[in-house]
Amino acid sequence: MQKFITYILILCFISPSLSTLSNVGTTNGIYNVMENGAIGDGKTDDSQAFESAWSKACKGGGMSTLVIPSGKTFLVTKVNFNGPCNAKILIQFEGQIVAPPKAGWKGGVYLISIERVNGLTIDGNDQGGVDGDGSTWWDCRNCDRPGVLYFHACNDLSVNKLKITNSPKCHVSVNQCNHATFSGISIDSPATSPNTDGFDISFSTYVSIQNSNIKAGDDCIAINGGSSFINATGVSCGPGHGISVGSLGKKRQDDRVSNVYVRNCTFIGTQNGARIKTVLGGTGFAKNITYEQIILQNVRNPIFIDQAYDARVDDTSLLVSSVTYRGFTGTSSCVFAINLNCSSSGCFDILLEQNNIVSPGKQASAFCKNAHGTARDTVPNVGCLSN
Ligand SMILES: *[C@@H]1O[C@H](CO)[C@@H](O)[C@H](O)[C@H]1NC(C)=O
Ligand SMILES: *[C@@H]1O[C@H](CO)[C@@H](O)[C@H](O)[C@H]1NC(C)=O
Ligand SMILES: *[C@@H]1O[C@H](CO)[C@@H](O)[C@H](O)[C@H]1NC(C)=O
Ligand SMILES: *[C@@H]1O[C@H](CO)[C@@H](O)[C@H](O)[C@H]1NC(C)=O
Repeated sequence: MQKFITYILILCFISPSLSTLSNVGTTNGIYNVMENGAIGDGKTDDSQAFESAWSKACKGGGMSTLVIPSGKTFLVTKVNFNGPCNAKILIQFEGQIVAPPKAGWKGGVYLISIERVNGLTIDGNDQGGVDGDGSTWWDCRNCDRPGVLYFHACNDLSVNKLKITNSPKCHVSVNQCNHATFSGISIDSPATSPNTDGFDISFSTYVSIQNSNIKAGDDCIAINGGSSFINATGVSCGPGHGISVGSLGKKRQDDRVSNVYVRNCTFIGTQNGARIKTVLGGTGFAKNITYEQIILQNVRNPIFIDQAYDARVDDTSLLVSSVTYRGFTGTSSCVFAINLNCSSSGCFDILLEQNNIVSPGKQASAFCKNAHGTARDTVPNVGCLSN
């Protein structure tokens, strides 16, 4: 009996490392990139090792864990983690991934693409990171700059405690994903870096971004066409261009965003806070959008509907309606702390309540054009709304 227990204990102890060697017949595999040829010296291209570990993890059954170990830096030039997979996968992401400088780029629109993988969890455990070496790209404004992390058609996705820095363009793109949660994500790029959105969400539903810290050169979060049930809570944004719906109507007609809920977020020194931007001439809608419990520190346009974004000839735009701004407090660096600048087709059912925004050294005020709705208990006074 004693011997038998010891035998079991030894088996338990060695099985995690064994399982990578003999995953045939096992249901729960651990696939470490180091055991699949990665060097982790920050110089050798480890892309193939990552893809080889992924392919085994994906083919395995049960739960597969892909390990990117801590204490190592992996240069990758382009990695695709594609599904569908047999296994439910956890990426234990505790090491550092670095992109090559612009000259070493292998092409592709994203450094890391994860496509058609359902039930994926990525856990950075507050250690893992990806750096896009964006400073080698930012000067080239007209280049087709790549993004760092792209999720396409990944349902039931969970990404936690990961740091993403210096993307040449967008840091995290979420496209056609339903039920995705991002929590404890840290994004960091300078204010001057061009088009470096923190998150870019499109054609996705039930996406939640929680307790995350975003410093970017463009929108902290951009919620684009085809998206609904999008939440942002406990997000700190700044520098950046705010948490934006849109721009909508630019590339396609019938651009639709609905059911957006932004709560308990802080904007620090940002260009915008709560922004809805649509281009003139576009069709579709942005509706049922709520921003509440928002703290502002020196924000240029705290509350901003901009329907003339990238103006075209037409003066109508897609329908903006049922937008609530509740519980904004803090400071704006501009006079128009509240700017509801709608096209001739108008914005409807706008509600402002319990807001208090001041512009130190200036008299904060509100600007409205073709904006319909109600304001109460709001400073500055929004006398310009029509019924
Ligand atoms: C968004 O927040 C609301 C209110 O807290 C919650 O009921 C809903 O489940 C959340 N949705 C997502 C997609 O997380
Ligand atoms: C608001 O967000 C912060 C993180 O920025 C979090 O610590 C706090 O618990 C949140 N408060 C509420 C009421 O959700
Ligand atoms: C508005 O969106 C919220 C989620 O943010 C949802 O719970 C609610 O049902 C929506 N209201 C309407 C009228 O669709
Ligand atoms: C409102 O939008 C128009 C374009 O339609 C622009 O010319 C004007 O400067 C904007 N006003 C404010 C106060 O933003």
